Amino acid sequence: MRITGTGHASMRIDTGAGSILCDPWVNPAFFASWFPFPDNSLLDWETLGDVDYLYVSHLHRDHFDAAHLTQFVNKKATVLLPEYPTSQLEDELRALGFTSFLRTKSNQVHELDGGLKVMIQALISPTDGPIGDSSLWVEHDGIRVLNQNDARPSDLSVFAELGHVHAHMLQFSGAIWYPMVYELPNAAKTAFGKQKRDRQFDRTWRYIDDLKADHVFPIAGPPCFLDDDLWQFNDIHGDEGNIFPDQSVFMSEYAKVGGTNGVVLLPGSVSELTMAGAEAPSSVETTHPTDVDEFFANKTAHLEEMRERKAPVIAAEKASWRHPEIDVLGALKKRIEPLLEESIYMAKGVGGPVRFDLVSYDGTSVESIVVDFPGKQVRPYADEKVRYRFRTQRELIEHLIYIDEGDWVNSLFLSCRFSAARIGQYNEFVYAFFKCLSEERLQYAEGWYDEHEKEVDAEDTQFGDWTVQRRCPHLKADLSRFGIVDGNVLTCQLHGWKFDLPSGRCLTSVGHKIRAEKHETEKTEA
Ligand code: FES
Repeated sequence: MRITGTGHASMRIDTGAGSILCDPWVNPAFFASWFPFPDNSLLDWETLGDVDYLYVSHLHRDHFDAAHLTQFVNKKATVLLPEYPTSQLEDELRALGFTSFLRTKSNQVHELDGGLKVMIQALISPTDGPIGDSSLWVEHDGIRVLNQNDARPSDLSVFAELGHVHAHMLQFSGAIWYPMVYELPNAAKTAFGKQKRDRQFDRTWRYIDDLKADHVFPIAGPPCFLDDDLWQFNDIHGDEGNIFPDQSVFMSEYAKVGGTNGVVLLPGSVSELTMAGAEAPSSVETTHPTDVDEFFANKTAHLEEMRERKAPVIAAEKASWRHPEIDVLGALKKRIEPLLEESIYMAKGVGGPVRFDLVSYDGTSVESIVVDFPGKQVRPYADEKVRYRFRTQRELIEHLIYIDEGDWVNSLFLSCRFSAARIGQYNEFVYAFFKCLSEERLQYAEGWYDEHEKEVDAEDTQFGDWTVQRRCPHLKADLSRFGIVDGNVLTCQLHGWKFDLPSGRCLTSVGHKIRAEKHETEKTEA
């Protein structure tokens, strides 16, 4: 089996029974904020795109690149489709000209021509990707690979049960706006960033340890930021709180925890996976288009060169954002108020007003608009306390309205082109709501929360004297594997959420109480 690195989370898998192109992403995403790094735009995409199968793991724009798919990917390719609750991924791919779809069943192996086997696990909570994220398992000729991508399943047992996995591709770097956009003192931002960076690595080690594959490929990031406004987010400034470590940092951190089987793929690198025998470990031979260590040693120079080359692309995108004819307040009222009316769980979960400060084109004035979740209204800010405040350029919101964007996470928030402040803890419902600005998505997310609210988590697990519900109140990770207790605080390592055991209170987000009980150890009287 041959794996060709095609940048970020993208790869081409070639087997004797056909080829699969995964998540080809080349054009900038999220308001021209994210670019693939290392640059993959100069690869021979005509050849790479001539494949038998296409797998797009989810609809985040650094995985689903409509322009690139249109131009370069063979429309006769059969799409391996994850089993998502909404048809949006299929609809968007059909609109690009794809007509052949294999609608997979989540966690079920599908056998294709020539003995090629695939299995896709679809994650479907409102907090997974843009409502849905997935991983692809492939087997051919005795070799098994798992492209976990940036999906975060609660465990990998369903893949491990299919036999030893030889190559494991997974995310290790950041893909979020926290904590950089928060209006915090620099020292606090660095401390939070460092925590986040450590947690990302811890989660990665845990997944690696779960699967124990012969070879580990760090993929799915980090992106690079080429606009001057965002240049500081690249991990080239010696900031220990930067959440975007690259593949070379992964390799040195992995070595510190004893990892010796990491394989870095640059765009154009080719790994050949072979087996000496059914029971023997697989071996991997990788060739690179350039020396990997030298490449990362010159990272800043590569980024500077890319910045210059891509500047016209960014300028063209920026020129398309302004739509001064749009009445932003009126348009938001029209779009969001009916959804607020229908939202029970998310509106209650947000529990307060969320304010958007829109900075005018010349930066001289600000229009403040409030999405009032309890009052079910969108209205001008009325000098009140708000749950969250976002400050961004008015033109970005105009553009979202203009293109009728139903997912502000997959556009505005991931762009990092805003600053934020909040009172109290992180609130997942704020972001869940703003990725559901359409009837179909809102109904789905409300239904999901309704179902999960009613689930009784009866199983327990034990931490010393504490008996705790086995499944994490966040996204149901098995706490007997992901939980660690320090004093009275339990941390679930899947996303790093913390719980105060005596009170059951979630210390990371509102709601999400945990059931925990302490058994007093018998005291003997002297
Ligand atoms: S499942 Fe997300 S923190 Fe536990």
